This record gives sequence, C-alpha cells and structure tokens, in this order.
Amino acid sequence: MPADATLESHLRRIRDYLHHLGLETFPARPSPLRTRLADFMERHLEEAAATWLETVTHALAIEGSPKPVGDDMRAATIRWIHHVREPQDVETYEVLQRHARLGFIAHHPPARFLASQLVMREKYRGILRRELAGDAELGDLLSLLEQEAWERTLHITDFFVEAREQDLAEQSESYRRSVDSAPTPILLCDAESGTILNLNRVATREVGTTPAGGPVWDLHPEEERSTVRRLFGETIEAGTGKRENLHLVRPDGEPLPVDVRTALIEIRQQSTIQVIYVDLSERRQLEFQLIQAEKMAGIGQLAAGIAHEIRNPLGIINNALYDLGELLPDASPEVREDLQIARAEMQRVQEIISNLLEFSHDNKTEEQPVDLDDLVARTLKLMDKYLQNSGVRAQVDLGATAPCIANENGIRQVLLNLITNAVQAMPEGGELRIETRPMGDTWLRLVVEDDGEGIPPERRRRIFEPFFTTKEPGRGTGLGLSIVHSVIKRARGRIEVANRPGRGTRFIIQLPLTGAPPAASDDTGESAR
Ligand SMILES: Nc1ncnc2c1ncn2[C@@H]1O[C@H](COP(=O)(O)OP(=O)(O)OP(=O)(O)O)[C@@H](O)[C@H]1O
Ligand SMILES: [Mg+2]
Repeated sequence: MPADATLESHLRRIRDYLHHLGLETFPARPSPLRTRLADFMERHLEEAAATWLETVTHALAIEGSPKPVGDDMRAATIRWIHHVREPQDVETYEVLQRHARLGFIAHHPPARFLASQLVMREKYRGILRRELAGDAELGDLLSLLEQEAWERTLHITDFFVEAREQDLAEQSESYRRSVDSAPTPILLCDAESGTILNLNRVATREVGTTPAGGPVWDLHPEEERSTVRRLFGETIEAGTGKRENLHLVRPDGEPLPVDVRTALIEIRQQSTIQVIYVDLSERRQLEFQLIQAEKMAGIGQLAAGIAHEIRNPLGIINNALYDLGELLPDASPEVREDLQIARAEMQRVQEIISNLLEFSHDNKTEEQPVDLDDLVARTLKLMDKYLQNSGVRAQVDLGATAPCIANENGIRQVLLNLITNAVQAMPEGGELRIETRPMGDTWLRLVVEDDGEGIPPERRRRIFEPFFTTKEPGRGTGLGLSIVHSVIKRARGRIEVANRPGRGTRFIIQLPLTGAPPAASDDTGESAR
C-alpha cells in the first residue's frame, strides 16, 4: 500500500522505479524527440480519437451517445501530449488522480480504463508506423511512446488502488464512528473466549473501563454468567442469539437491566461476536412507577378504611382512660404509672392514624403558596433540641426566590420526615444539609442530605413503600417516606434519592413554583440514580 497520498511523492516514486529499474530510456526533460512526438500526436489527435471511439464503444458497452466520451478522451489525450512534450507538466496526472477518487473512472473497474488506454497507444503506434515508414527516428519515437504509455499505466494503477483504499478507510471509519456513538452499549468479543476486544463509548460509560482481556460475562452478576456463556455457544452455532432480562454491573455496583442481542462476525479467520445491549432501565422505571402508583392507591384506600374504623373505638378508649384517671384520684403510684403509659401509647397510636390518613389523601387539604425557606427555618427551630441531642449539626443554605404551590402542612411533614430519617441514619451524630434553590422559572429544588449510613441500591426501590422500614419495632412504622411521596405527588412535584459520593444519602425534591404550569405527569419519579 502506498503510504504517500500526495501527488508529488506519488510522481516521484513512479519516476524512481522507472529510473532505477533502467526503464527510463528517455529522461524526463524536454528534448527535440519529445517535441516531435508531441507535435505528431497533436496533428493526428482527431484520427486517433475517432478510431479509438469506434473500437471501444462496443467493447466497453458505452451507452447513449459516445460523443461525450470521445470528447473526454480528446481532452485527456491533449493533457497527456503536454506531458510528453514537457514532462514537468503533470496536469494530466492531477486530473487522473482526482477522477480515480471521485470522477468517472472511479465508477468503473480499473481494467476497463487501462484497456482503453492500451487501445489509444495502439492507435498512435499504427499511425506512426504508417506516416513515418522509413523515417530514421521512427524506432525512437515508438520507444518514447511506449515509455510514456507505461509510465501512465503505472500511475493509473496506483491511483486506482489509492482511491479504493481511501474509500475503504472512510467506510470503516464511518462504521467505527457509528458504532462508537450508538446510544446503546456495543461490544466486540472473541467468540471462543468471550474476551472483550472493543467497546463503544456508551459501553465504556456503563460498565467502566474494564481491563481489556476480560471475558464479557464478567460484566454480568455472578448468577447470570453461565447464561451469557451459553448465549455465546448458541451464537457460534446459529449466527445470532438473544437473551432478555439480564443485567450489567455498573462501576458503582448497581445492576443495569438489559436485553442482549448477539451476532457472529467472521473477520480474517477470527470469529468474533458483536454484543448489543438494550438498556431497559427507563422502561423498568416506568413499569416500577406504575406498579408503585397502583400499590400506593390500593394501600391508601385500605389504610383510610382502617383508620376510620379504628378512630372511633380509639376515641372511646381514650375517653375511658380519661374517666379512669378522674375516677381514681387517689390511685396507687403503679396504677398512675400504667395510666400514664396507656395515655402515651394512645398518643402514639393517634399519630400513626393521622399519618395513615395523611398518606391516604383522606384529609383533604388546600394548596397555597408556601414560602419554603421560611418553613425550613421554622421546622429546624422546632427540631433544634432533637438535633442537638442527637449530635447533628444543621448546615442550611436557603435560596428559594419565590414561593412554591403546595399544602403547607404536607410540606412540613415532608421536612419532618426527611430530617428525622437523616438524624436516625447518623446514630453517632453528623451533618445534616438542607438547600433550597430555584430551578429555571418553574421549579424549586429542595435537597436534604446526611452523611449517615446511606441506602444500599437494592433497598432504594422499596423505601417509599408504606410500612417498609429497617428500623426495630417501635422505632419506625415505615410510613415516613410514603407520606413524603404522597405529599410531593399531590403537589405535582418529583422526588429522587441518591447516595452521596463518599457516604450518606441525598433526597432531591422538585416543587412547582407559583404560576408554573402544572407538570405534564401527575406522578412522581423515584429515580435510583
Ligand atoms: N436518610 C436515610 N439514610 C438511610 N436510610 C434511610 C434514610 N431515609 C430512609 N431510609 C431508609 O428507608 C426506610 C423507610 O423510611 P421511612 O421514613 O419510610 O420509614 P422509617 O423511618 O423506617 O419509619 P417512620 O418514618 O415511619 O418512623 C428506613 O427504615 C430506612 O431504612
Ligand atoms: Mg422515617
């Protein structure tokens, strides 16, 4: 493969071949012999071109009017003649190189073009022999013609090859780029060993820069590896394969749900398998949100029903407890203590009931403009003692510029629950950070984060479920975040949870500002990222 694509080095190279191989009888500089041949060729151009056209029209299956072809050949021959006369005039080769790449001759096999060049040479040979029979210089003129024709053939051959190589390189570059920028993970692997040979950008992002050399199944969780291995076996047999419901392990250890497609590609004796992953996380998330929304609605109804039913007997028990206290003014300390405990526990039960009702949307509440910064400040004041006792410092950065639209009580519940959770996640104390910021013209962002234990990925999807708790009995009912979820949902906002880099948890809430158009979706999105 010629490494030099520029015309100059190309010309020099061919000239060197001719020179060093002793094929250059007539040096490449003007001479009387060159002038004579050029003059002769010019004089007989019409005849040569006309008989050339006659010969090739049929043989080369030239369609339509052959006139343009004849005109082209005439123009090309004129350029060639210039070069015969003045070997430094290389316009003929400039044109040929360009045309080999993009022009007419690029669309035909090289042999066709070379054959037609041979014919041109033959025509001129015939005319020379006829016109200059007996001339002392005829032999030299024929040799010069021969030398020039050969030089031309060598150039054209290389132009063709260069042009095709450039085409190929461009094709493979465009293929490489389209794979590389495809919006889905694509890998190329050795078919037998599964070794990853190549991975595109999205794949690198999703699975991290795997040490090349590892087998592709190592990108999957332990329990899926044999499945992927079997998939490779099938692909070698059948040419293609697919599997659904697998996972890629992300650099942070979180599984990415995927479907997999494979195709066997044989390149130069090496069997490779192209692996294309289809990222299902978004679809899964939608499914999850739907299920979640339905589940919440179901539990909400149930909870509301139970809460109503229990509220009446509880009221009666509460009254009875009060009466008992009144009826036994001189009760023994034990009785008084028991009564005290009973009342305290009743208080707790009632809180749970009102939480349940809050969650189930049952207590209809008005929406109004809420000054979030003010609410955060007041809530923190309320919880000041609790934070101090727990060794938690609060870092507050309030920058909400406009009120959001929500139910104030609901948002207070949100703050109470998020802050309580944060404190509980830091049993040794730590830092609680609260930040408010406008997000564009329509949203307000509230961030609550702690540097506590964090939430493992597999638990993250469940934390918004009612009654999901990891706390010991009596410490938590698992209603806190489901209330948060339902308040935010009612306010047409969004909530996301993420682990903070390092340690701890970050809750991000978006609420619509006053005057903001209602969000298109009335569901919240819990994102695991
Ligand atoms: N900031 C946090 N850090 C770590 N884990 C958290 C955090 N917030 C919530 N969780 C996890 O989510 C679970 C559910 O939280 P949620 O507030 O709904 O219930 P709870 O706190 O357990 O009980 P309740 O809020 O009803 O007292 C918690 O048990 C805990 O495992
Ligand atoms: Mg809680």
